[in-house]
Amino acid sequence: MADPIDQVARTFDDASDRFDRLTATVWGPAGQSLVFALRLHPGDTVLDACCGAGASALPAAAAVGPTGRVHAVDVAADLLELGRLTAEERALQNIDFVCADATTWEPPSSVPEAGYDALAISYGVFFFPHMDASFARLVGLVRHGGRVGVTVWRAGAMTEFTAVVFDVATRYSPALADRQSLRDRTPLHRIDTPETLEAWLAAAGCHSVQVDVMPNLLPATDELCWNLVVGTGLHSVLEGLDEPAVEALRQDLLTEITERGLHTIDATTLVGTATVRRPPATV
Ligand SMILES: C[S@@+](CC[C@H](N)C(=O)[O-])C[C@H]1O[C@@H](n2cnc3c(N)ncnc32)[C@H](O)[C@@H]1O
Repeated sequence: MADPIDQVARTFDDASDRFDRLTATVWGPAGQSLVFALRLHPGDTVLDACCGAGASALPAAAAVGPTGRVHAVDVAADLLELGRLTAEERALQNIDFVCADATTWEPPSSVPEAGYDALAISYGVFFFPHMDASFARLVGLVRHGGRVGVTVWRAGAMTEFTAVVFDVATRYSPALADRQSLRDRTPLHRIDTPETLEAWLAAAGCHSVQVDVMPNLLPATDELCWNLVVGTGLHSVLEGLDEPAVEALRQDLLTEITERGLHTIDATTLVGTATVRRPPATV
């Protein structure tokens, strides 16, 4: 059995060719919303865990300005390279894209002893095999009064689309019949309503929790549908298929989407933020 983090890295590296085509419609709006909700200040030091190609890390770097710093961490080296290129294009010199497992990340000595000013995790926290413990550890890297924020798919988002993808992909790879959706095979289902996400952030030792719903209803064009398969974690359904099989699957999928009358893809997202409360140090 492959290590789950290696598996995630492989899937997202495989998805990297198309991943950025979803930035304008999917990753970008959530990343921007998260950064806005975190209320960053110029000069802040920010950790962006599971940064991908920088959908939240790049706007964070712009928000904290040249006196601030962003550590953007991910296990998918090819996505990090995309992020570096975008940062270069935008002349952002205050962002470091680092290939590392966020669950064991140790801040470099340049981070103030009190900790980061903010932590951002956009569409990433539910990939952690031990979500609660890993999130608590990352929250522990943020100073008292610092800010933390996550984005997650809202319950029901991507569900109908993912069901069609699995139904069609199973015709090509029968083993996928047993494969659970992202919501069921990860802890996402525990934090995908405003109420459960709010309670989860509070349980991680945070106060002033706020969860906003970011509606995102995207027209199900052929291009978007296929990018959502090839450029996301769904890429794993193509594993082991040769090029003609992938093309046949693509055609079948688009036909099935038309036949089922799926006109809109629900990419509605929850943006949850909170302020860190550290227990007073004991002497
Ligand atoms: C859906 S993508 C989101 C990327 C980015 N935050 C965005 O919104 O565009 C999820 C990312 O989480 C990363 N990831 C998952 N587990 C990770 C871990 N333990 N450490 C670092 N990155 C991880 C994946 O490699 C992938 O890039």
